[in-house]
Formats: sequence, structure tokens, C-alpha cells
Amino acid sequence: MADARKFPHHLIREIFEQPEALRRTIDARVSLADGLVRLDDIHISREELRAVRRINIVASGTSRHAGMTGQFMMQELAAVPVDVDYASEFENRDPMIGRGELSIFITQSGETADTNAAQHEARQKGSRTIAITNVEGSTIAREADGFIYTHAGPEISIASTKAFTAQMACLFLFALYLGEIKEKVSTALAQHYIAELLALPRKTETILAAADRVERLAELYYRVDDFMFLGRAIHYPVAMDGALKLKEVSYIHAEGYPTGEAKHGPNALIDFRLPLVVIATRDSKDAGSVMRYEKNVGNMEGFKKQGATVIALATEGDAIVPKLADHTIFIPEAPELLSPILEIVPLQLFAYYAAAKRGLDVDRPRNLVKAVTLE
Ligand code: F6R
Repeated sequence: MADARKFPHHLIREIFEQPEALRRTIDARVSLADGLVRLDDIHISREELRAVRRINIVASGTSRHAGMTGQFMMQELAAVPVDVDYASEFENRDPMIGRGELSIFITQSGETADTNAAQHEARQKGSRTIAITNVEGSTIAREADGFIYTHAGPEISIASTKAFTAQMACLFLFALYLGEIKEKVSTALAQHYIAELLALPRKTETILAAADRVERLAELYYRVDDFMFLGRAIHYPVAMDGALKLKEVSYIHAEGYPTGEAKHGPNALIDFRLPLVVIATRDSKDAGSVMRYEKNVGNMEGFKKQGATVIALATEGDAIVPKLADHTIFIPEAPELLSPILEIVPLQLFAYYAAAKRGLDVDRPRNLVKAVTLE
């Protein structure tokens, strides 16, 4: 546990607790020697999981952003199609789900009314359900067929940080578990990913060790009124969550957009007045990631021509992105599917420092509650 006395607010303490939270969430569930993931509370047979044809992930707010990263993880590792819904919209679109499908509900509190209502709807339609939650014995966990607890520890600040990174770790564990059951993941690949999972807490510590650099950046920008966060593929939900954190704790208007969508409208807004946070990391061993990286570089060249101020998230050792950006935050290299767990950390720090410099009540933003128990 990060030492509580060192921190003026719960939010910054919880951001710093992430390495420890990730260790608790990951370590006891993986075995590097045999490449296996153990999830004891799933309570759905391996046969039934092997037969799953489609997965629905349902959640609200930050938990839904975790779900959006889970979509990439499960599609890639278990080769199963995944839909992601807002819990508050689940009933409205009459989800056509049924037997042979699995619905996963993600909620830090386990008490979010929209998410609980969506679980009732899915169960009524005959879907099996799994809850990913931080609160043991919560309503969502009691009503689900199975559950995976995020062992992030109590989250007191209203903005969700350590629960978010723990949720993404749980989604990755489940994707690997399902991939093994469906025989889509070899032992060697599983061992590779398990080693990378186990390396995440250490990498998170390196990012946190450079928090003062993010604080200096916040010092430069906390008076700005609008921000845009851009990310492609699995980095898009990170951009969404970076924007959500900034708006909820600092009251700075921020939008998260897929990078490639900028030219379909938002570009008209982009000039020197609108700082952009562009996630432009790469996994140099992954051809898909390198291709996305090259597209990001092309986009950034365009943003610079428009006069935009760019804060980039780049992979350590990258010499190209820093030349195109006004400021660069470096992230340790990781497989692309795991990189969101690292990328969000400096964005959480940025939101925290901007809010603190604005003199706001960072732990209790106005008009928000920790668990939204009304639909
Ligand atoms: C954002 C935030 C909210 C919650 C959302 C869902 O920082 O905290 O967006 O993520 O209200 O809450 P849970 O996860 O408890 O269902």
C-alpha cells in the first residue's frame, strides 16, 4: 500500500496504489511455469465456455471503458465476437441475446443500478453472466453466475483509477483463460503474456516515478478550457477515459475521439487553442501495432500543420513522435493489448494535478456520487 500520509488526497494515493493493486489482482491467478490462468469463481463449466458464440460486455462510465479494451483482448485471444454496451442503454436497444452467449458486467462498486438492471435483462433472456467487481458480496456479484474480483482495495475518491487498471487486468486474465479453453492460445503464447502481465506493476512504478513531469505539464495547461484526447484501436478507450477523468475532476471540457475520426469533423476545431493528447505508443514486435503507429505519425504531422499543441504518449526509445509533439510522456514498451493499463496512469495524474491546481475538491467532484444506485 502506498503510504497514506504522503498524499494530500485519496485520488493521488489511489493512483499511486496501482502497482500494488495490480500485483494483488494478477499474481495469485497465473502460473508462469505452465502458462495457465486460474479463475476459481467463474462457476461456468469449461464445456459451456468453449461453446460461447458471442460475448456482451455491459458497464457504465470508466468501467465501460475497461470493457472496450476487453473487447480487443477477447476478440484477439479467444476469437469470439464481443459487443460493448452502456448499461443505461442496454434495455433500450432490445439486446438480442440468448443461450450460448455470455454477458460480462463490470462495476467497481457492484451496486450501479443501470448495470444491475442490465444483468437482470440478460439473465431473463437466458444468457450466462459474469461480474467483474471490486466489492466482494456486492449485489452484482451475488446475482451473477460467476465473478472475478478486482483486488484493487477500497476506492474512496469518486473518480475511478486503481479499479480501472485492475478491471483491465481481470479482462485480460479472462481473455487468456477463454483463449486457452477454446484452444486459441498456445502454452508458449500464454507464458509470454503471463510474463508481461507480471511485469506491469514494475512498469507502472516507472511511470509514477516521473509524476513530477506530468505535474509540470499540468502547471502549463490547467487554465485551458478545452482538451481533445485521441487514440486508435485499443488506445481509444484510454483516450476516452483520459478525457472523462479530466472533465470530472477538473471541470475542463474534454472529448475523447478515435484518432482516425478527427478528419471526419473534429479537425475543424483543431488549432493552437485546443491542446491535443495523442496516444501514439507502439509495440515494435507487433506488425499491426507498428502499422497503427505509422498512421498516428501521419495524423500528428497533420495536426502540427494546423498549429495544434500536441502532448504525446510515446513508447520509450521512440525518436519520431517526440519530434512531432510539443511535450512527450514516455511509456515503457508492452504488448499492445496490455498497454492501456500503462497509458492511463499519466492521464490520471494529469487530471489530478490540473484539478488540484484549480483548487477543486478532487475527491468529491460536484454532482457526482461513488455508486449510482438510481437508474
Ligand atoms: C469515473 C467514474 C464513473 C464510474 C461509473 C460506474 O471516474 O468513476 O464513471 O466508472 O459510475 O461505476 P461502477 O464501476 O461502480 O459501476
